[in-house]
Amino acid sequence: MQGFSKRTKTAKLEWLVQQYFHNDAQAAQIFCDMAHRDPALQKIIDGFSENTVSNFLLPYGIAPNFLINGVTYCVPMVIEESSVVAAASAAAKFWQTRGGFHVEIMGTEKIGQLHFNYTGDVGVLKTLLPELTTTILHETEALTANMQKRGGGITGIDLEDFSDREPHYFQLKLRFETCDSMGANFINSVLEETGRILTHFLKQKVGIEPTIIMAILSNYTPNCLAKAWVECPVDSFGTGGAALAEKFRKAIRIAEIDTFRAVTHNKGIFNGIDAVVLATGNDFRATEACGHAHAARTGRYKSLSHCEIKNNMFKFELEIPLAFGTVGGLTTLHPLAKLSLAMLGNPTAKTLMTIVAATGLAQNFAAVRSLVTTGIQKGHMKMHLTNILNHLQASEPEIQAALQHFVDKPVSFSGVRIFLKK
Ligand code: MEV
Repeated sequence: MQGFSKRTKTAKLEWLVQQYFHNDAQAAQIFCDMAHRDPALQKIIDGFSENTVSNFLLPYGIAPNFLINGVTYCVPMVIEESSVVAAASAAAKFWQTRGGFHVEIMGTEKIGQLHFNYTGDVGVLKTLLPELTTTILHETEALTANMQKRGGGITGIDLEDFSDREPHYFQLKLRFETCDSMGANFINSVLEETGRILTHFLKQKVGIEPTIIMAILSNYTPNCLAKAWVECPVDSFGTGGAALAEKFRKAIRIAEIDTFRAVTHNKGIFNGIDAVVLATGNDFRATEACGHAHAARTGRYKSLSHCEIKNNMFKFELEIPLAFGTVGGLTTLHPLAKLSLAMLGNPTAKTLMTIVAATGLAQNFAAVRSLVTTGIQKGHMKMHLTNILNHLQASEPEIQAALQHFVDKPVSFSGVRIFLKK
């Protein structure tokens, strides 16, 4: 296929249906049906990506009653997995009467890297760093002026020497404050300009031009960090509270000492985190990559959350790097992302970090609580049953009968089909 991107959307779709669906009219109809009825809005959505022929719908759910740092939020969640929103809502409600979620933002620093080759003297390079820093700060001012007005900009520049691992390879590691924007475009523009400045600077000072390898932000932001926690007396878990709290603590401990469990455990945290990140038009791939790097920062992949019981007080906490924007990008272009942010009171990036960290902790709490009590299949199977019944186009009376029938029986697709036939 040559020149696919240059074809019109209709021509792209026609080609697709002809090549892969034997010109099936029903397939073509499904692709078309998912398009938005408002062509102007559809055009905006198409603009987010390339070669678009349709939209892929995901459920947009709401988890109310999230008390976070004394403010109650209704949290928007975009996720395709059943039980996640129900679990987040249940955890939010549970903690609402126990002081809610507490979140502290430990830092908001973003990182950009200029990777370069330099064959000159390393000592000279290190000595020149203060002058180079002043030059970069001065010569990038046209790019950073607006950000500086908002209280941000470049906050520091370090020279990283990797030449012992790769001959002549160095980095300028720039630290940034990007306020309420995610800052990717800003950081990358500044880095590319820094590459030109560095080249010119070294040519002038030492007569050696470095080779710029690449200039790109780092999605690892260990100092853009949120710490969320909940705490209550163990008795507040109700009858058998102390035993339940201890079982819960042990489950969290297992995820600290066993990587196989840690990955599933953290996946549960990201069920909540990704859902809010998506709903607010932020980048869930960056969030995931960064979170997992943080989980492995000691050299071994571990749980992102921790639990302790001291003097009959239960404390459960999550520490996670989160880098978000609440202005610019998709946050203002996607109509639902815009509404999500409005629903959250048009938060600053810091407040969004707070809300997302609390949702991740809530999700983790709900998952582990059901794992150590009823098991997750109970809740899952009810949702699963509803999905199967919908898939088999069961009528309302059939649905009610099936829900009653399967209340104490294992759910399977064939089992439900046989029940409906009967
Ligand atoms: C399922 O999406 C998430 C869980 O597996 C998380 C966990 O095991 O903690 C339930």
